[in-house]
Amino acid sequence: MEYAVPRAGIAAVRALDRDVVGQAHHPRGAAGRVTAWEMAHRPSNRQRSRWVVSLLDVQPADRILEIGFGPGLAIAALARAGAGHVYGADHSGVMVRAAARRNAAAIRAGRVTLLRASADQLPPALDGPFDAILAINALAFWPEPAERLADLRRRLAPGGRVAVASQPRCPGATADTSRATGRQLGQLLTQAGFTQLSTSTLPLSPPVACVLGG
Ligand SMILES: C[S@@+](CC[C@H](N)C(=O)[O-])C[C@H]1O[C@@H](n2cnc3c(N)ncnc32)[C@H](O)[C@@H]1O
Repeated sequence: MEYAVPRAGIAAVRALDRDVVGQAHHPRGAAGRVTAWEMAHRPSNRQRSRWVVSLLDVQPADRILEIGFGPGLAIAALARAGAGHVYGADHSGVMVRAAARRNAAAIRAGRVTLLRASADQLPPALDGPFDAILAINALAFWPEPAERLADLRRRLAPGGRVAVASQPRCPGATADTSRATGRQLGQLLTQAGFTQLSTSTLPLSPPVACVLGG
């Protein structure tokens, strides 16, 4: 299926959202392990993960999927919030191992499943249906993000919701950059067929924009 997402729009999201940590796209090896540690301990990353999870109004029976979970901060917050089962996909083996360590107890308890997989090749175990799907500072790295979002929409249960959040990490990013990123995320979600979009902002420096849709 074709999606008429302007190439300039996709390029702008990628440019705006790219993390200062050079390895953010696909952490590998020793440098990747340092990146994982930095991502896990950066206060703004921790705050934004908890905040995005709080926007999802997690219910005890919810099956929730995160794409690009990195060190697993939001996965842990979702499990703490009482989600029925939390699934995650990340294409980096370094990140899968870091997130698995962080969420070891919940994995042992059968409440969290983390898989090494790319957003464009999700395994059958992640067919869904899911009550919520989220991605935080991750979508900018996906090939053909509108197609990926449309694919995720098909994995939602009736009434399911999506949350796509971004805190621009490009040098010099400001509140204007975050607003522009939020608008671009909204355009991509609309192109992918999501409706009832709403944008929330967490006032960090720079702010985090999160667009919710169903
Ligand atoms: C900047 S990190 C954000 C991690 C986490 N969401 C957070 O906010 O702390 C981006 C993550 O997305 C993952 N990623 C990038 N492209 C991906 C893709 N195509 N499929 C799956 N994961 C991807 C990377 O491996 C990395 O863990």
